[in-house]
Amino acid sequence: MKHLLKLLDLSSEEIISILDLADQLKYEKKNGIAHPILAGKTLGMIFQKSSTRTRVSFEVGMYQLGGQALFLSSRDLQIGRGEPVQDTARVLSRYLDGIMIRTFAQQEVEDLANYGSIPIINGLTDFCHPCQVLADLMTIREKYASLEGVHFCYIGDGNNMANSLIVGGLKAGMKVSIATPKDYRPDAAVLDFAKGNPNFLLTENPLEAAAGADVVYTDTWASMGMEEEKEARQKAFAGYQVNAELMAAANPGAMVQHCLPAYRGQEITEEVFEAHAQELFDEAENRLHAQKAVMVKLMGNQK
Ligand code: CP
Ligand code: NVA
Repeated sequence: MKHLLKLLDLSSEEIISILDLADQLKYEKKNGIAHPILAGKTLGMIFQKSSTRTRVSFEVGMYQLGGQALFLSSRDLQIGRGEPVQDTARVLSRYLDGIMIRTFAQQEVEDLANYGSIPIINGLTDFCHPCQVLADLMTIREKYASLEGVHFCYIGDGNNMANSLIVGGLKAGMKVSIATPKDYRPDAAVLDFAKGNPNFLLTENPLEAAAGADVVYTDTWASMGMEEEKEARQKAFAGYQVNAELMAAANPGAMVQHCLPAYRGQEITEEVFEAHAQELFDEAENRLHAQKAVMVKLMGNQK
């Protein structure tokens, strides 16, 4: 594994091995065992969109691994004034040991990897959010001990989260059911990947997707960059809320996940959110541990 560009590129074994290392690093952190595995290394973090969790967890994770992280806003970089990503990749490869990038087009992340000579980590594109899904899988495994056969459902927009959750969930051996309105389905490449898999269901009916689910996942109806579609989306997604009725269709004791930020009263009710706050913030915490594992795998000396 040279990069983390999208989960489609990873084998099931690679995903599980990241989760195993994440568990180990979390255990060490909780028990005061230092792990300066990336001492002397520098991660550049390019942000073309806002972030709370990704920025802070990568930066803190890098410090905990003994290295340092540079926050590079596209507003300040020449990339924001039109310097090609191909050149940025070759320049930054001379200074840094790895790059985490959050941007719009997946192609930009792929270009960074193609032109640069250091590991590239996708910190969210319009297509996918692999770091988030690794943390989500880690959190699900903490509750259910294994991912194999766990019934995962996603309700709402067929966006970057849905795309990554389908790929990550199926690769991890979970049963994955997705409910989206017909005009907001996941990406065609992802549906192609899932096609014919007996563990996959795509429906327009949220209650059908949630029936018997062990995990209920949702995300904002209007992702970053789609702000002008907000009103149209509120109408299209009105029946796709994670609320008490939807939770009643899921398994008793089902866990609720959300990548955050959450919009209460839209994709999730205040009541469901607060009833599951503990596991939602455990999930957010696991971003730190999962991404440390990714950085160690990609930037550490031992592969
Ligand atoms: N879930 C997530 O990626 O959060 P941020 O946008 O705050 O980084
Ligand atoms: N789908 C959301 C995820 C935010 C972490 C977005 O792209 O804005």
